[in-house]
Amino acid sequence: MTPADYIKQVPKAELHLHIEGSFEPELMFQIAQRNKIAIPYESIEELKKAYQFGNLQDFLDIYYAGANVLIHEEDFYDLTMAYFQHCAEENVVHTEIMFDPQTHTKRGIAFSTVINGIQKARVEAESKWGISSLLIMSYLRHLSEEDAFDTLAQSLPYKHLIKAVGLDSSEKGNPPSKFQKVFDASVKAGYIPVAHAGEEGPADYIWEALDLLQVARIDHGNNCLSDISLVDRLVNEKMALTVCPLSNTALRNVDEIKNHPLKKMLDLGLKATVNSDDPAYFGGYLTQNYLDCIEALDLTLEEVKQLVRNSFEYSFLPEGRKQELIAQL
Ligand code: HPA
Ligand code: ZN
Repeated sequence: MTPADYIKQVPKAELHLHIEGSFEPELMFQIAQRNKIAIPYESIEELKKAYQFGNLQDFLDIYYAGANVLIHEEDFYDLTMAYFQHCAEENVVHTEIMFDPQTHTKRGIAFSTVINGIQKARVEAESKWGISSLLIMSYLRHLSEEDAFDTLAQSLPYKHLIKAVGLDSSEKGNPPSKFQKVFDASVKAGYIPVAHAGEEGPADYIWEALDLLQVARIDHGNNCLSDISLVDRLVNEKMALTVCPLSNTALRNVDEIKNHPLKKMLDLGLKATVNSDDPAYFGGYLTQNYLDCIEALDLTLEEVKQLVRNSFEYSFLPEGRKQELIAQL
């Protein structure tokens, strides 16, 4: 079997996906109309033309603007169901979904509205397609630590629905050290810590995520490659990296997919996984991320199998379901 045929049909997991980043322009226009909110673009085509990013911040500006049309529980439900529909079509059997409460609470939307809409979709996806999922509540790092503490407090009534906390948004100038106290408190509350690090920021931020936030996974982590002793540590600790190839090229962190370091990461013994990050903005869902890497990097069937195995191995699934899914490969 070719690696491309294999990846299209095999059951797989996604570990790095921002639900707000799965907001397709068509659904955005539909919800905007329903909520009588004006979008500063005449048409879906015009909006899509704006998806040309020079860096992470260019993208974030549009991503937060797009999220503005999400008002009601039903909107968050529709958004999440649309993502699960893609999972069902691609045989993604498990997904770990990040959501950014502050993107919504800052606009006056209640935490409960956001999480209840997402939760309703999770339950439906599980019963309709057997897709398991869990939630990673991500703190926006361009905001203050105090703001993150407020978010942590608001999450506590929904603690049973949230597995982990993450750290996303503008990386440069907002190091993990800024959030050490709120991560300590989040772990005490029972959440698993993860963080975006080394996407645009330096290898130092990955050291901080490991040493100060005690993360269980690094989101992205590409810039570890500039620091050999850091690579050694990540390999020795079997620290997974949730790599997002099409995100890296869309945000110009990698110039072309043929220069993506995914294969090099595997060669070094790093526990890389493939993920879509913000698929509505970066040009493809999970399978497309794999397919583009298979073609551009000439990944072997063995390498693709390793990536798929990693997606389960480094998930936060209970051991029983994890082993059950790995056995199906
Ligand atoms: N990086 C940082 N923050 C984000 C991203 C990303 O790729 N997507 C959504 N928030
Ligand atoms: Zn991300």
